[in-house]
Parts: sequence; C-alpha cells; structure tokens
Amino acid sequence: MTFVRQQKAPEQAGSPAPQDETGGRLKPGALPHMSVVEGWTLCEYATLGSTNLVAANMKAWEAVRADRQSAGRGRFQRTWVSDEGGLWLSAVVPTNPNSSSGRALPMAVGLAVCDALRGLGVQTLRMRWPNDVLVKERKLAGLLVDQFSPGLAVAGIGINVFNEPETSEPLLKNQTARLADLLAGPPTLRELAALVLRSLRGVIGEMEAGNFEALLPRVNRLWGRPRRVELDLDGAKRRGVFKGVDAAGRLILSSDSAEAAAYEPWQVRHLTEINK
Ligand code: BTN
Repeated sequence: MTFVRQQKAPEQAGSPAPQDETGGRLKPGALPHMSVVEGWTLCEYATLGSTNLVAANMKAWEAVRADRQSAGRGRFQRTWVSDEGGLWLSAVVPTNPNSSSGRALPMAVGLAVCDALRGLGVQTLRMRWPNDVLVKERKLAGLLVDQFSPGLAVAGIGINVFNEPETSEPLLKNQTARLADLLAGPPTLRELAALVLRSLRGVIGEMEAGNFEALLPRVNRLWGRPRRVELDLDGAKRRGVFKGVDAAGRLILSSDSAEAAAYEPWQVRHLTEINK
C-alpha cells in the first residue's frame, strides 16, 4: 500500500445493484445497497471502476465495496486485478492534517487487515513493507491509501477470497494466495467486509487519539523475522536489515557500516527483500 496525494477523480459508478441477503453477488442495473455496518455506512455495487475513486467523494466513516472493479488501482500506478470473488473495499477515514501520524496510516490499515484475517484463523501471514499482506510469500491482500482531500484518507483494501486473479493475469500464477484455500469455511464477502471495517474502526480510533506509538509493537511484529533489504531511494540504493518503523512512521534500516537510518515513507520508492 502506498500513500498517494492526488486530485479527486470523478468516477462513473458502473451498474450498481443490491446484494442478496445471503451475501451473494450483486445484481447489475439496480441502485447500490446501503447498510450500516460496524459504525460505517457501507455502499455496495456490482461493478465500479475503482472503489478508491468512488470513495474520493465520500465522507468520513463511509465505505464502498464492489463485486468487481474494471480499473482497480494498485501501487505505483499499476492495475489491480479485481475479478469477482475478491473483497474490493475502500473506507474513508479522518486524518489529522497537523499530525505526523498520516505517514503511519498505511501501516495502521495493514494492522487492521491482519488482525481481521488472524481473527478468522489465518495463521502464517506477515506484512512486507509498507503493507503487502503475504502468506508463504504469496500476496493475500494489497492496500492502497490515497489522500484526495485534507483531513480525509481513503483506505483501499483488496483481499483475494474466492477469486482467481491468475485467470485474468497469467503473470500472477503462483504469486497470490486466497482465503478460500487457507480456511475451511471462508466468510462471505459481506461478512469479511464487516470484520475488516470493525478492525479498521478500532485502529483508526487509536490513531485519532494520537496513539500510533501504542500500536507500534503490534505493527512491528507483523514484519516477521528481520530481513536484509535493498531500498531504492529514487535512484540511490541502500542495503541493510529492515528493523520496522518508528513512532513517526519512518522506516528504520540498520547497516553494518553506519548507524541505523530512518527514512520517510515517501523517500523510499521501493523495498526489495534480499533474503526471503
Ligand atoms: C497494491 O498494489 O498492493 C495495492 C492494491 C490495492 C487494491 C485495492 S482493491 C480496493 C481499492 N480500490 C482500488 O482501486 N484499489 C484498492
């Protein structure tokens, strides 16, 4: 996940439709299904371009889910394969424009998602900085935090559940994991959305209270064992051991030759794990 500051982009909201009460597919052509879920107003559609772009025009504590995204957005302006059966969810959260906690927000969202997944019984997950959720080195979830306006951020959450991303994109073969293969009884998409939104509400509540420091030990446990990494600092390369993040949300890198260095998230274009 990344924290991208950009302009609001108007979205054509495809063919919205109510979901049936079993948590099944939404029917194209009707109005979006609105409900209140875990303190959020959740708006569900059959198809959208990108839920993050729809959420750009929504208020704090509103969320949007689509069965399918025709133009799902990933980090580094990549396309995010969003076939039917995955959880494609964006939630609008308040941020404090005068606080440095915005840097830490992507990691806090990662924590919320990992907590929800662990609560379901997914045991072996870890995070790769800043917030790819991996199971056995395969990507189970990706997160993209966009800031479209001051004081609000959009937390975009994509989780592979029943979908088969490699069918649409063969390059993803053996690169992704999905809940249906990890759990005997995976939740419906609607149940999963509710679990993630509840967890996110709790974590953002702590962030609002200025408490990223309190979340820090939990965030730093998510990275797993220490790994050697190479950072791409917009051209310059630095190698060392990734030591997690500090209370200001900066990445800490220790190297043999120098003292540990702290990098702002925006300084790090890419992190490559050298020994997986
Ligand atoms: C990544 O590249 O790992 C981030 C992927 C984020 C995908 C989610 S799906 C819901 C939301 N809407 C989008 O267009 N992207 C995010």
